[in-house]
Amino acid sequence: MIRPLIPKSDFIGIDNIAHLAVGGEAPMLCSHMDVMAQFMKDKSAGAPSRDLQAHTMESARQKCADLLKVSCEEITLLSSATEGINNIAYGLEWNPGDNVVVADVEFPSDILPWTKLSKRGVEIRVVRHKNWIVEEQDVLDQIDDNTRVVAISQVSMFTGQQIDVAMLSKGIRQTNALFLLDITHAAGVVPVDATYADIAVSSCYKWLLGTHGTAIFYWNKARLPDLEPPFLGWRSVKHSGGWKDPLNFSLRDTADRFLPANPSYASIYILNNALKVLAEISEHRIHQHTLALSSLVRAGIEEMGFELMTPVEDHRRGGNTCFIHPDIPSLEQYLGEKNVQIWGSYGRLGRVRVSTHVYNDSQDVDRFISAMHQYLTSQEGPKT
Ligand SMILES: Cc1ncc(COP(=O)(O)O)c(C=O)c1O
Repeated sequence: MIRPLIPKSDFIGIDNIAHLAVGGEAPMLCSHMDVMAQFMKDKSAGAPSRDLQAHTMESARQKCADLLKVSCEEITLLSSATEGINNIAYGLEWNPGDNVVVADVEFPSDILPWTKLSKRGVEIRVVRHKNWIVEEQDVLDQIDDNTRVVAISQVSMFTGQQIDVAMLSKGIRQTNALFLLDITHAAGVVPVDATYADIAVSSCYKWLLGTHGTAIFYWNKARLPDLEPPFLGWRSVKHSGGWKDPLNFSLRDTADRFLPANPSYASIYILNNALKVLAEISEHRIHQHTLALSSLVRAGIEEMGFELMTPVEDHRRGGNTCFIHPDIPSLEQYLGEKNVQIWGSYGRLGRVRVSTHVYNDSQDVDRFISAMHQYLTSQEGPKT
């Protein structure tokens, strides 16, 4: 029996559910309610409200920095991971003939922003998977003297594969390319060391147990000291000349130069609380827990004969186990009626994702596997 690392009763509404869908949306911690109440009090405090909110933001930034093993000044909190990726697409100066390397099984936001550059003569090189695996060497082989960015996820939202970040980083650093790492499916579940990257982004409403409206943006300042933000606003600057000299300003030295305006403080209060709860457990323990549970998921799916996309080796996966299914909407509905939540992306991608996190136990996996068997039996039809 594998017990949860955080009791289900600490979350809203999952007592009687096998919630295996955190790769899509995390359930909310009950303690977020108190945090929301605190946010509302702080927001109502008049002039001190800004300092109170800024204080919570600093606390959340520090926790993000600890999680990513970087310094606080290299972290800011943007509205989404997608915004962070677009910051690089629009923040770099591009020349015709430049190229960007991405993988075919990536999340769309890791690919689409670069397509806006094609009018400027920028090529997008798509690395193809082999049997759902993106080989690190295939990524490195696509890089040449004109490669400006390699954009890839540490753990794939589509296949569940974890790439070898250290190996990629080593290869990329022998070139002129910049390494943009999406850690959305890694942070909070798999150890992350963002120093291997030049830029890292993460949404916070999945494995980090937060909600929408805030996302981590990491700027490796030592590697990219001159990186400028594409958008400017009052918050991007250290000081400006005010009405006497309004065109006189200097950019902040910290990653806050990429944050032009007030962030979503309400989401940051929630993130701060979520990171506090996660930090009470070591990242190694969370990783081992999720690996143990996802091994059980894998064994069950394998036995049913479905095509698994996620690699078997521990170091090549995180908390997602993904498999191909021919009729995902019907499967999702059937499992939902049995209180088993998986993530099928509305069937659009042809794959099912089963995600295991801190609040899951082996009974959740048993429920999933037994509901899957019942579903398969229900599809067989009457025996003649
Ligand atoms: C790898 C990856 N990056 C980014 C996102 C989305 O993040 P955001 O909504 O913060 O842009 C997702 C969402 O599924 C994702 O899987």
